[in-house]
Amino acid sequence: WKTLDDMDLNGKRVLVRVDINVPVADGKVTDTTRIDRIVPTVKDILAKGGTPILLAHFDRPKGKVVPEMSLAQIVPALSAALGLDVTFIDGGYGEAVGKLAAGDVALLENLRFNPGEEANDAGFAQRLASLGDVYVNDAFSAAHRAHASTEALAHLLPACAGRLMAEELSALDKALGSPERPVVAVVGGAKVSTKLDLLSNLVEKVDVLVIGGGMANTFLAASGIDVGKSLCEHDLAQTARDIAAKAAEKGCAILLPRDVVVAREFKAGAANETVKTEDCPPDAMILDAGPDSVAHIVQALERAKTLVWNGPLGAFEIEPFNAATNAAAKAAADLTRDGKLISVAGGGDTVAALNAAGAADDFTYVSTAGGAFLEWMEGKTLPGVAALSD
Ligand code: 3PG
Repeated sequence: WKTLDDMDLNGKRVLVRVDINVPVADGKVTDTTRIDRIVPTVKDILAKGGTPILLAHFDRPKGKVVPEMSLAQIVPALSAALGLDVTFIDGGYGEAVGKLAAGDVALLENLRFNPGEEANDAGFAQRLASLGDVYVNDAFSAAHRAHASTEALAHLLPACAGRLMAEELSALDKALGSPERPVVAVVGGAKVSTKLDLLSNLVEKVDVLVIGGGMANTFLAASGIDVGKSLCEHDLAQTARDIAAKAAEKGCAILLPRDVVVAREFKAGAANETVKTEDCPPDAMILDAGPDSVAHIVQALERAKTLVWNGPLGAFEIEPFNAATNAAAKAAADLTRDGKLISVAGGGDTVAALNAAGAADDFTYVSTAGGAFLEWMEGKTLPGVAALSD
């Protein structure tokens, strides 16, 4: 794929697919990360004499006009991040785009208000293409969707990756594509069932796979350990054993918790104790990994050159069951700061957990992607990225 450096943008109208699907409460953006991360691309296009016309979705209106899902509510935060007034275009696209002058930045209304967007409809893509001269995709986090603005449109105009897209792809390549070894993957989260493909792909690619969170319980139970009342997908015991067998065959070591923090109630501040994994009381739930487990993980990180992280190690949203996630995240951040580790993380929960631990800033790269990051970890080709390479 090409980058902005390969394109002549002078005097051109540049259609830029961005992902500004950001959290909003009471009509106000509560986390501007995704908006902040597209600023370099938009500024570069302006500096090269192009007129950026931003294309984006917000939420899931399913092809209908849903006023609460209008991108108009994102305009103030976008204008503030760019330091200029963004022109919002909610209809009569052709005429409105015709009025844009050099130095303007425009944003079209939520593309998903049109059913053609999610249908990857050729006609809708053609209509979008008629508004610009060049196409830039800067929405890695939406690249797992084969939609008109992420897929079909890329084939209709000279196309390239924006700065953020290029940055994401190069960081991910360093993590799993051609990484410095050993590579450790930390995978947590509640359920094995949502991450089967991911685990199966990772055991082929990494040297050590740390399994944490509720998912670990399924693996522990599959190996014959009584996990009491813990969240556990008992019906996936055989699948967990198959993944463990594949890991052994591929030379990937799986690390499961050695000790766990257990409680009788799932609530903040619940009375808890730390026990050996095999000693989980029958009436208790495992809610976090214990200090021995964390020490074991940190030891693996100290021996590693690369870390890829998705998912918390415990019920990180309630204290004190965020302790293992925080401690491991801080250790990874310290090793990264000391130049000993390349650390890449992604997924909505993961980024929230790393931010809460105060570790995100020291990671080598924190992806803006949720679902796209998972699909990439599954080894899937992302249609939005593939379309740029065609
Ligand atoms: C995201 O928030 O992960 C992306 O914007 C994709 O959104 P979607 O899951 O609604 O396609």
